[in-house]
Amino acid sequence: MKILVTDQAGEVHELEGLDGWRAMEVIRDWGLNIKAECGGACTCATCHVWVDPDWYGLLPVASHDEEDLIFSTLDQKPTSRLSCQIILNDALDGLKLTLAPSAAKDAG
Ligand code: FES
Repeated sequence: MKILVTDQAGEVHELEGLDGWRAMEVIRDWGLNIKAECGGACTCATCHVWVDPDWYGLLPVASHDEEDLIFSTLDQKPTSRLSCQIILNDALDGLKLTLAPSAAKDAG
C-alpha cells in the first residue's frame, strides 16, 4: 500500500506503507519533517496531520485524548488527526495526508 504525504513545503511524497504500521512511523522512517516527540504514545501532538477530506470519514473516530491534543495545536483544521493514531491497512491504500506546520521538527 501507499500513502501520499504533502510536506510543509508543499511537496508530495508517495510513501510505501505497511499494514499495521502507524502513519507517523512511515512518515518518520521515510525522513519527512515530523517531530513525533512522544514516539506514538498520544501525548505530544507533534505528529499532527491534516487528512484529505475524502479520506477523513474512513478513519476510525479519534479518542478523547487525541481530540484534546489536537485542540491544543494552533493550526488545527476540521480534518486534523494525530498520525500516530492512524493505523494503516489495505483499505487506506492511497490515503492523503498533509503535515501540519506544528509537526515540523523545528516548530516551537
Ligand atoms: S507522536 Fe506524540 S502524539 Fe503522535
